[in-house]
Amino acid sequence: MSGLFSRTPKSETDAVFEPHGVIPVHVGIIMDGNGRWARARGLPRAAGHRAGTKNIRRVLRESVRIGIKALTVYAFSTENWARPKEEVDHLMRLISQSIQEELDDLDANGVRILHSGRLEGVNPRLQEEIRYAIERTRHNDTIVLNVAFNYGGRAEIVDAIKKIIQEGIPPEAVTEEVVSQHLYTPELPDPDLIIRTGGEFRLSNFLIWQAAYAEFYSTPVYWPDFDEAELRKAVAVFQHRDRRFGKIKDTER
Ligand code: IPE
Ligand code: IPE
Ligand code: MG
Repeated sequence: MSGLFSRTPKSETDAVFEPHGVIPVHVGIIMDGNGRWARARGLPRAAGHRAGTKNIRRVLRESVRIGIKALTVYAFSTENWARPKEEVDHLMRLISQSIQEELDDLDANGVRILHSGRLEGVNPRLQEEIRYAIERTRHNDTIVLNVAFNYGGRAEIVDAIKKIIQEGIPPEAVTEEVVSQHLYTPELPDPDLIIRTGGEFRLSNFLIWQAAYAEFYSTPVYWPDFDEAELRKAVAVFQHRDRRFGKIKDTER
């Protein structure tokens, strides 16, 4: 079928969100563009990070409404340590502040918090806050909020290899499944959809193992402006993608 009667939209911008269509179980978000959002308003970068941090709640709430079961948000990469100390310090304070301010409410709303990343090198008090948030929300099951903080995809694979060796698993027993089970969050399925705001088309070391068959969606919208409608648009595009996982469709056999 083609033309007028085709079920495939002319372009992805025509995709319409279908609440009863396929909903991605796990969505990863590369929350980029905070700095440029601030700059466009004549504000310091810190204001962009503050607005970006606030936006997580809005997108989380909409994710629950849509029926997404897990959200992994890229908050701080292993490469972000190379930014000016002032900005790094500000980002660390923001993470700590949001845990303190939001934890009660997140917990009351059934949000389970997970962390992907290394805790070594992080301020001990912040480490403690992160461990506490995970422990306190571990029985919640409305949605998972996995915070990729001090996270690098390559570091994650290196850490998995170390754990596998330490456990004495013999080479012939190392399978893709075994590697997956030794990553930071073995309880999460691979992401179905990865969204990048801020307009770039790269993963920047985000979930590089798990993203093998994720659908990638990039939007020029800066993270603080990425609202409910933008999330629905991303899911609509996902719903119109044809995921083949290397196979051919039954109808084309
Ligand atoms: C993303 O926004 C947040 C972090 C990387 C911590 P940026 O700070 O990268 O914003 P831009 O890309 O400079 O606009
Ligand atoms: C990716 O954004 C990291 C986070 C969103 C935390 P960056 O701004 O660090 O990525 P690059 O430098 O543009 O690749
Ligand atoms: Mg950036």
